[in-house]
Amino acid sequence: MSEQAGYVVAVVGATGAVGQEMIAMLESRGFPVKTLRAMASPRSAGKKLSFNEGEVEVEDLSTADFTGVDYALFSAGGSTSLEYAPKAAAQGAIVIDNSSAWRMDDEVPLVVPEVNPEALKDIPKGIIANPNCSTIQMVAALKPLHDAAGMNRVVVSTYQSASGAGQKGIDELMQDMDAYYQRGPEPERKKFAHPLAFEVLPHIDVFLDSGYTKEEMKMVYETQKIMSLPDLNVSATCVRVPVVRAHSEAVTIDFDEELSADKARELLEQAPGVELLDVPQENVYPLARQAASTEPVWVGRIRQDTQRPKTLHLWVVADNLLKGAALNAVQIAEALAAANV
Ligand code: A2P
Repeated sequence: MSEQAGYVVAVVGATGAVGQEMIAMLESRGFPVKTLRAMASPRSAGKKLSFNEGEVEVEDLSTADFTGVDYALFSAGGSTSLEYAPKAAAQGAIVIDNSSAWRMDDEVPLVVPEVNPEALKDIPKGIIANPNCSTIQMVAALKPLHDAAGMNRVVVSTYQSASGAGQKGIDELMQDMDAYYQRGPEPERKKFAHPLAFEVLPHIDVFLDSGYTKEEMKMVYETQKIMSLPDLNVSATCVRVPVVRAHSEAVTIDFDEELSADKARELLEQAPGVELLDVPQENVYPLARQAASTEPVWVGRIRQDTQRPKTLHLWVVADNLLKGAALNAVQIAEALAAANV
């Protein structure tokens, strides 16, 4: 920490959906910020953002100097991170990057603090990657179960909200709603391949030759890396749904040992960052609208497969902008600060 109490923290992409939440998380969790610097594209330079009791003026990233910055939290897209994260690291900042640009680099730790905090011990490039939102909430729920019974296969279907495509994703969904009710024109398709209002789209990010999407393969490779299980068998189907905030996931896990639903509930109840919400007889299970703007990963609908006793099914919901992005990044900064890195 610098001599005057607190850290110099930069938020890159500060005007975006995740950047705004990064600033809110630094504030609400009381992270010791001595100076906050906000950066975005030249379009936003000079804009004022509020932080704690004061205001911060947005700087143009392309001319910003990171000298003196302790932690730089990036959420401004992959190409921006590819160009500017090494520059910020070379100027002395530790970068915590929310984009997919660095996640699979062998020299970049990919971290969910409740799952693999040990990965923060070695940061050769000065860059740490924040995993994909859908991966973060899934591995937080998988970790305690894997430790108990050893998992060998995971099949997941996601129900991902519009805010996963940023503020422009939310705006496009709202415009699609207006167009559906003939209150406005059809929006230009920038974020979704088809109108998302009253629709589910089995399509997030681009399709690969295998038939999977890039988003689906992020869940495969990132889960293997975070959990240090390079051969873990994972298959994902990623679906966009007309929900503003919070991703839901149906997860099926095959274990080496039998694990009862009751034992899984007990383990998840004690797991850090996880909240159990599992009283289906009373209609109690995790819901996106209840999870929105909350910190935990909510887990419910836990059941043992009726035909395969070593298989469990779960329903996992979390705020994609918080635990799936901004909160996880701030938790990484908290872990670094606690370790004096
Ligand atoms: P700006 O608001 O100036 O465009 P979202 O994911 O919600 O769309 O937000 C993206 C964030 O990334 C915004 O803060 C946006 O700034 C920022 N951003 C996008 N492109 C660049 C760029 N080339 N340089 C710096 N910031 C960028």
